[in-house]
Amino acid sequence: MIKNIAVIGTGVIGTGWIIRFLAHNKKVTAYDKNLKLKKNIIKEIKNSQPYVKKLFNKKKINLSNFEYVNSIKEAVKSADFIQENAVENYKIKTKLMNEIGKYSKPNAIISSSSSGLLPTKIYSKCKFPGRTMIGHPFNPVYLCPGVEVVPGKKTQKKFLNKANKFYKSISMNPIMVKKELPGYLADRLQEALWREALHIVNEGYASTKDLDRAIEDGPGLRWSLMGTFLTFHLAGGKQGMKHMLKQFGPALKLPWTKLKAPKLSKKLSAIIIDGTKQQAKGKSVTMISNIRDEYLVNLQKLRKKYEDKIRK
Ligand SMILES: NC(=O)c1ccc[n+]([C@@H]2O[C@H](COP(=O)([O-])OP(=O)(O)OC[C@H]3O[C@@H](n4cnc5c(N)ncnc54)[C@H](O)[C@@H]3O)[C@@H](O)[C@H]2O)c1
Repeated sequence: MIKNIAVIGTGVIGTGWIIRFLAHNKKVTAYDKNLKLKKNIIKEIKNSQPYVKKLFNKKKINLSNFEYVNSIKEAVKSADFIQENAVENYKIKTKLMNEIGKYSKPNAIISSSSSGLLPTKIYSKCKFPGRTMIGHPFNPVYLCPGVEVVPGKKTQKKFLNKANKFYKSISMNPIMVKKELPGYLADRLQEALWREALHIVNEGYASTKDLDRAIEDGPGLRWSLMGTFLTFHLAGGKQGMKHMLKQFGPALKLPWTKLKAPKLSKKLSAIIIDGTKQQAKGKSVTMISNIRDEYLVNLQKLRKKYEDKIRK
């Protein structure tokens, strides 16, 4: 059984993983090259406690299962599973994976939280590419169950199966991507939406707030239960997707979307930064995150009732 976990890089995502692992009684050893982060982590773990407790029916996280160390070697030497979360950069990750490979146990699984880099490339200098992969989570990692598992060209099936089992054991729903592609699945979809949103704001059709409402009050309400395909199946009436394609298929030829992002000019950046600042209404990121976390816990409890009806 996988018990000892190393977390490399303890920013937003690394911290989220630490909380999820601890909430599932794993022993976690963490390292970040910025050792100052060590001070904040316990505070962050404690802040997430009410939500984690409610979602996983857990009494308390056992902090004695957590250790923060001063080197990669110390962090990975006893680990059965290594989750890497350094900044999104080919050069940094490739160098890091070389080091992780050097110091880890021969059977340890190495997984990267990268949002879109190709695993074959980031593990090109890693000693054991057969046991490497991407395990791309969603923020906040301690509450979102999704994780995209992406193999590199040299990844062995047996390690993918082990990772699948492991992620399930920490209350996640792994999505096993068939082969590597830049941006993987969800971020490709998110990115398409983001690019269109930037065009719409840039051309002055809507504010950031109005555009957010367009998602929050429509597609967003449905998306946590049903993705694009099943949603559009219903949009086709009794004949489902067949009629949907007949009716809206021709629209695919209309130039609705641009997809290539507009230039991130100073003016556009200022509109977005100012727009979202107004939407926050003076609340800090932590305050809004706490509201989101409470909502995500309640939403998932509600969703459980309905998703079984659709997926079974
Ligand atoms: N933020 C998100 O929503 C999100 C979601 C899913 C995946 N990711 C991915 O997770 C990874 C981390 O993203 P983040 O948002 O947590 O970034 P972040 O900037 O919050 O944290 C990155 C951390 O990596 C550390 N670091 C950099 N080089 C290092 C090294 N050589 N060794 C050890 N630590 C090192 C930095 O000090 C920093 O603390 C990225 O690959 C990102 O694409 C991010």
